[in-house]
Amino acid sequence: MYVCLCNGVTDKKIRQAVRQFHPQSFQQLRKFLPIGNQCGKCIKACRDIMQEELVAMPEYQEIA
Ligand code: FES
Repeated sequence: MYVCLCNGVTDKKIRQAVRQFHPQSFQQLRKFLPIGNQCGKCIKACRDIMQEELVAMPEYQEIA
């Protein structure tokens, strides 16, 4: 589903970026995706998706 219509960013892309880059804030997430930089209507939804994904991620990743 498209979350940021201005930039054509989907929730799937946001979830992938969160899992890959582990952003600590919305500002950090914006370094990886063009979100919320035009009309700004998507910012709350993007934040919510980011939080959902961060909570769902395991605290430690197993190595090897
Ligand atoms: S919908 Fe994301 S900046 Fe407009």
